[in-house]
Amino acid sequence: MYRSHSCGELRASDINKEVTLSGWVQKTRDKGFMIWVDLRDRYGITQLIFDEERTPRAVVEKAKTLGREFVIQIKGTVIERESKNKNIQTGEIEILVNELTVLNEAIVPPFTIEDKTDGGEDIRMKYRYLDIRRNPVKNSLVFRHQVAMQVRNYLSKEGFIEVETPYLIKSTPEGARDFVVPSRMNEGQFYALPQSPQTFKQLLMVGGMDKYFQIVKCFRDEDLRADRQPEFTQIDCEMAFVEQEDILNTFEGLTRHLITEIKNISIGDFHRMTYNEAMQTYGNDKPDIRFGMKFGELNKAAQHKEFKVFNDAELVVGIAVPDGASYTRKEIDKLIDWVKRPQVGALGMVYVKCNEDGTYKSSVDKFYDQDDLAKWAEITRAKAGDLICVLSGQTNKVRAQLSALRMELAERLGLRNPEEFAPLWVVDFPLLEWDEETERYHAMHHPFTSPKPEDIDLLDTKPGEVRANAYDLVLNGNEIGGGSIRIHDKETQALMFDHLGFTPEEAKAQFGFLMDAFQYGAPPHGGIAFGLDRLVAILGGQETIRDFIAFPKNNSGRDIMIDAPSNIDDTQLKELNIKLDL
Ligand code: AMO
Repeated sequence: MYRSHSCGELRASDINKEVTLSGWVQKTRDKGFMIWVDLRDRYGITQLIFDEERTPRAVVEKAKTLGREFVIQIKGTVIERESKNKNIQTGEIEILVNELTVLNEAIVPPFTIEDKTDGGEDIRMKYRYLDIRRNPVKNSLVFRHQVAMQVRNYLSKEGFIEVETPYLIKSTPEGARDFVVPSRMNEGQFYALPQSPQTFKQLLMVGGMDKYFQIVKCFRDEDLRADRQPEFTQIDCEMAFVEQEDILNTFEGLTRHLITEIKNISIGDFHRMTYNEAMQTYGNDKPDIRFGMKFGELNKAAQHKEFKVFNDAELVVGIAVPDGASYTRKEIDKLIDWVKRPQVGALGMVYVKCNEDGTYKSSVDKFYDQDDLAKWAEITRAKAGDLICVLSGQTNKVRAQLSALRMELAERLGLRNPEEFAPLWVVDFPLLEWDEETERYHAMHHPFTSPKPEDIDLLDTKPGEVRANAYDLVLNGNEIGGGSIRIHDKETQALMFDHLGFTPEEAKAQFGFLMDAFQYGAPPHGGIAFGLDRLVAILGGQETIRDFIAFPKNNSGRDIMIDAPSNIDDTQLKELNIKLDL
């Protein structure tokens, strides 16, 4: 038997027990006549004591040879600790050792395996298995497990069945780029890894599964960011015989359950907002609604004077920064530099200080009088003491720029409290989105999303204005889920492909299996997928999903621990009929 207890288990009530423990040597302190060792496993740390007077001499000698991360087993007696450590759960006791076995030696680790480590990001990724021994990483993985278990329990109780769908599927041109896998048995042909199980879950509805879910890996070859990985996990769900309202209620239930169980916080009704309202009020389709700084559109109030920059702009829009009037000239200049960075891309920023005495001081006093500025303050809801920041230009660009500034200021002002949760449904997304590059419409969500029946007539005349039965769930400024009510008849699906620029032949070649299925009695259906990594990170009070994935990829999509992707040898290439012409 390797152990009678874990390293996180023993308490004062266990004093005088004979125990066996196994674990890793976190550190040793050798005072000559006495040696202390911190023994660590997943459950905690227990202090061991080797005492020249009470521990056999040979054991003390062996203890002197222990290095960091040696794997050892000890037998000994639980005794009361002289100087208690209130910070750890085993802090009242220590083990007086009388037997020591070294189960495995360890070379010196490349960084210190403690909560506060000296290892940089790269080295910790290369030796991720060592990083996982540290509490912050280990706890994140345990936390992820707890969230996943709650998801499974809740959905199972609600009657959802977890069904696995294939990973080797067919490449489709919509959405992000596919990762492809060559087929040895089918020369010159490729599978694709699924970007999501979308079509399969719809086929499960045709198959009568009624309520499906799957915690499933998805693969997308897209540029990476803090909240994006090339392989990530979805909580993928689909239901038959539902309308949008049914889906929103069901998954509001799941989200509320998670926040209650995991964070012990009860949440009221979820806010709802249309896509248009989100864009107008926050410049963003995933607004963080934990704080204000709502957009005030100033076209009417700012385009009646001789200020050409504003007069030429499609949109003039501002936000009121709480207590910003006290910013110095230098601080404001820094803000202006911030919005002018290429990542944000504004050409400049106009500002108005709302003084405590009710007067205004702006960077455009030459053009606007106190009445004008008072109007701006009213529109942006600025109070005395606030600073109004105004940007102008092409609508979509300006909204994105001001939204970036709003988030940056909220971060600086400490308004993004990670322990506060403000879920929001964004509904009525546009069905189609114009793509400048390919000069055609793309499905904003995916091509299986149903248009709102009352908007179908606009498909031919104003395709950009057709709204979809599509919704996103936003949590604290992050899109944690998205879904839609699907098209379930062949004709509407064909109409949709037509508007997306597919010829009937292309549509048949790509999605014939789905359109065929729709002829055999497809029920009305809809669903949603949550990004599990994002959900876990946000519930854990963070926005970087990498920390909640056991073996993540770096920003270039590499796994630097196993060194992937890598070249493959010529015989393998030949077998796959792939000729590299480098
Ligand atoms: P969508 O593409 O919106 O919808 O994806 C659903 C959710 O998955 C998460 N997500 C990601 N997380 C980490 N890394 C990525 N690269 C990444 N991409 C997406 C997001 C997102 O909200 N089949 C549809 C769902 C449906 O219609 O039911 C789908 O995949 O949190």
